[in-house]
Amino acid sequence: MCGIVGYVGEKSAEQVVVEGLRRLEYRGYDSAGVALVHEGAIVGDKRAGKLANLDKALAETPLPATTTGIGHTRWATHGAPNDVNAHPHRGPESRVAVVHNGIIENFVALRKELEQDGHTMVSETDTEVTAHLLERAVLGGADLTSAMQQLCSRLDGAFTLVAVDAADPARVVAARRNSPLVVGRGEGENFVASDVAAFIEHTRDAVELGQDQVVTITADDITVTDFDGSPSKGLEYHVDWDLSAAEKDGFDWFMRKEIFEQPRAVRDSLLGRHDDNGRLQLDELRMSESELRNVDKIVITACGTAFYAGLVAKYAIEHWTRIPCEVELAHEFRYRDPILTRDTLVVAISQSGETADTLMAIRHAREQRSKVLAICNTNGSTIPRESDAVIYTHAGPEIGVASTKGFMTQLIACYLLGLYLAQVRDTKYAEEIATVVDELQSMPENIQQMLDNADQVYDLARSLEGARSVLFLGRHAGFPVALEGALKLKELAYIHAEGFAAGELKHGPIALIEQDMPVFCIVPPPGRDFLHDKMISGIQEIRARGARTIVVAEEGDDAVEPYADVLIRIPRSSTLLQPLAAVVPLQLFACELATVKGHDVDQPRNLAKSVTVE
Ligand code: F6R
Repeated sequence: MCGIVGYVGEKSAEQVVVEGLRRLEYRGYDSAGVALVHEGAIVGDKRAGKLANLDKALAETPLPATTTGIGHTRWATHGAPNDVNAHPHRGPESRVAVVHNGIIENFVALRKELEQDGHTMVSETDTEVTAHLLERAVLGGADLTSAMQQLCSRLDGAFTLVAVDAADPARVVAARRNSPLVVGRGEGENFVASDVAAFIEHTRDAVELGQDQVVTITADDITVTDFDGSPSKGLEYHVDWDLSAAEKDGFDWFMRKEIFEQPRAVRDSLLGRHDDNGRLQLDELRMSESELRNVDKIVITACGTAFYAGLVAKYAIEHWTRIPCEVELAHEFRYRDPILTRDTLVVAISQSGETADTLMAIRHAREQRSKVLAICNTNGSTIPRESDAVIYTHAGPEIGVASTKGFMTQLIACYLLGLYLAQVRDTKYAEEIATVVDELQSMPENIQQMLDNADQVYDLARSLEGARSVLFLGRHAGFPVALEGALKLKELAYIHAEGFAAGELKHGPIALIEQDMPVFCIVPPPGRDFLHDKMISGIQEIRARGARTIVVAEEGDDAVEPYADVLIRIPRSSTLLQPLAAVVPLQLFACELATVKGHDVDQPRNLAKSVTVE
């Protein structure tokens, strides 16, 4: 939610900053802007709309060459996405410029105070007050670092701020509270950004900042303090992926590339997590076996796609461990006064590790003394840092706004967690665990098989370009897959889509079925508690009412054939692991249908990748 970049070095700041924004555009694309320090003045430009609009403006009216600058790509919260509300914002005398990600909750009071002092605000944003306050401190004699410290101590809410001072071209100062900020350590140049992707082509050495810290970068130095000015330190780390991972590699969309990366992502997420006998080792977990043995309830909390991964996890974890497992949307969780004890394990699933709703949920859980385990794809992000334990997924950077390989690797991490708990608590025999681990090992091949069949799904998507509504049905672990298929279609193709538990249909939703309505049906493998047969009855019922059935069923399942208008085959697997292959055609379908409809698949309207506001 908003991407921000700052640079000091020897290169063209405009180029570095704009390229950085290009890699952060997934975070917000309502407007974009840059501010550079040039000969004692701030120069810059900012434009509503995607970064391309700023590119065009900069090509038509180039900015002078400078080596210090900041930039922003916005996901609007306060004020419409127009040129005036676009960042950077400046102080009244244009002495400082500021970019901001987050929400300043007390901005109304601050704005009133400034207006009473004669300040005039030109935008509707909460950010502009920070530029005025910062400039007031700088004009009062503070250097930019001290001014930032003073400013932060007056702000409530979530923010990352990055600022430059026209009279101090050698430094860029940034600060963070509850919002992401990472520093890139280069040679003779340094960077700050919301995400390492912004500077990965220049350096893979990064510094993770803690809560309530201010960082000052010059070309040769990085200095970290707390908001009160006391010296502090960030955590140095090396990024384990490179520029190629942040590029499209010949695909039309990041999303499509990320769907096709899933076999690799699953393989990487399993790597080093078990020995040759299938015995699991989650060394990174940071929780002792005795703590895990004491767990008497698991609460999984997450949002969106990550929540659906949690729903799948519930089926697996309860089946393997017999520990009761609840799954709750993070933004609902803490408001209902959940029953949490020291023996509750709260599992927070988040690709970005920055989702504000999930972050607030884990803070609530920790206040109640429950242990929190994060499943996360982003090293150094806030959620794992504030958790007691973490399982990192190894999807690599996910840039397409719609999560795909993130979801896939979240499922893998959930399965590993469930199996590990079963191993520690002896609720499954070692051979049983080893069998599931073996099956997990074969999943990259199964997913690849689905990808090899992409053309069938693409043809289907093209044939349904005019569809107004699409339904998705599943049962058991296939139910969350249906929800995920519907979410992908809503967010990318902007058409009405709903996921249902197939058994629920007759309790109401069947009334939606009309002639030729496409309905995806995720069929469980034959043989489990009659689920398969019940699903087939459900398919017959909707077909009898005119639905066009798109049946996703495993190879060799002949019973579905008479009821499928379109049949998509998936490799055989156990019911619990079936989501790994079953979700792939739904991802491909949404990606292709959105493409055919002419939508921007990587940057769907109104969305942003990392939702850092509540
Ligand atoms: C949908 C999607 C979102 C995210 C949700 C949580 O395709 O990507 O629903 O899953 O916003 O994000 P994370 O996992 O970063 O916490």
